[in-house]
Amino acid sequence: MDSKLWEGRLAGGLSGAANDYNSSIRVDSRMYREDIQGSLAHAQMLKETGIISPDDYATIQAGLKAILDDISSGALAVSPDAEDIHTFVEAELTRRVGAPGKKLHTARSRNDQVATDVRLYLKEQAANTVSLLIQLTKALADKAEKYTDAIMPGYTHLQRAQPVSFAQYLLAYVQMFLRDIGRVRDAAARMNRCPLGAGALAGTSFPIDRELTSRLLGFDAPCANSIDAVSDRDFCVELACALSLIMTHLSRLSEEIILWSSWEFRFVELSDEYSTGSSIMPQKKNPDLAELTRGKTGRVNGNLVALLTMLKGLPLAYNKDMQEDKEAIFDSFDTVTAALVVCIPMLESMAVNTDKMRLAATQGFINATDAADYLASKGVPFRDAYKAVGALVKYLISEGKSLESASLSEFRRFCPAFDEDVYSFISLEACLMRRNSLGGTSPEQTRSQLEDFRALIAQYE
Ligand code: ARG
Repeated sequence: MDSKLWEGRLAGGLSGAANDYNSSIRVDSRMYREDIQGSLAHAQMLKETGIISPDDYATIQAGLKAILDDISSGALAVSPDAEDIHTFVEAELTRRVGAPGKKLHTARSRNDQVATDVRLYLKEQAANTVSLLIQLTKALADKAEKYTDAIMPGYTHLQRAQPVSFAQYLLAYVQMFLRDIGRVRDAAARMNRCPLGAGALAGTSFPIDRELTSRLLGFDAPCANSIDAVSDRDFCVELACALSLIMTHLSRLSEEIILWSSWEFRFVELSDEYSTGSSIMPQKKNPDLAELTRGKTGRVNGNLVALLTMLKGLPLAYNKDMQEDKEAIFDSFDTVTAALVVCIPMLESMAVNTDKMRLAATQGFINATDAADYLASKGVPFRDAYKAVGALVKYLISEGKSLESASLSEFRRFCPAFDEDVYSFISLEACLMRRNSLGGTSPEQTRSQLEDFRALIAQYE
């Protein structure tokens, strides 16, 4: 297609490389449904307001529906030479139905058209992301349900810190992904305003009905200001930011899985379907998919920065720079969707080695805080208790012993307040049970977190 819609002022026909450079068809052809949906609503409004005749409307409507069917079925290929999906559909309509097709663009500009199409497309993407996140949180919660009593080392600075349950660990990720659901939904709700009818930037002299097109397209209301309507891409930035955080959370989880599936930890084992081998080392079972998620986070963050940078110097209203919005935000959605689709079953099929977790928790003096708490409960000031246990730990390390294997006389050498009951007090199970403060790691608290989660997620569905 070498004739341009804007032929008239210009002779038309950009040179080959310039045409490719100018074209966005490779990126925006995926919005053909939304473009046709927007055009159908616009045409209906033009008819209702008497701007075009019912006959012209009927012709346009039938033509657009046929184009939709033909692109969907593959009977009509979107031309790679077209400038963008908007010009392609309009030119195809005119080619098919003649003069009425040329009336479709009355009281409309590609600027309000593209802003409308992108919002429609992203609404769908946002809804899909939310439903994947719901599946992910449910998968994590279902796993957590089985491991409320499974003790593992909790870490700070990647040093063994205090015992936690595996459930508590997984439920921490549930909280992150619940916030992500909230962020995507918030951004989608703010985006739900219709730019159509803003024209190029100033509105139109035709007696259009913006409330009608907004309603027909499922928006809450028309955008309030025509200049803002065509120059706002905040919704791309907000969604890109929410997607970056989703990827960041998936990346942190991936990092845990990579560590946990190493021979050093062996807390978990990925199923064969979600592992890869090495071309040379026969023993290898690699967590490539988790690593890819961690790696792809960089690209998703890059998209966010690309969008912010693209917008920051733009005078109002539309500038062609804005054509770059789609490549960035579409890629973020594609990447997050692909990551979620793989992550969910990878987590579901992941085997958990509770023996290894428990064994790791028995080493590294993970119950030292509890030994200090024990002394504090016997009336020793906590600071003194902390010091005594610190010295005891230092001594036991040199002896190659743990707190559990220390004799009572060894305990007493560092503080006379230690008694026989210290052993049951510092058992890992007791340590876990006692952390029963709200949101703590005790089985009672994790079960209550799970109940709250189930109630909340039921509202989302
Ligand atoms: N392909 C363009 C984009 O994605 C459509 C809008 C073109 N508008 C214009 N005034 N050139 O932004």
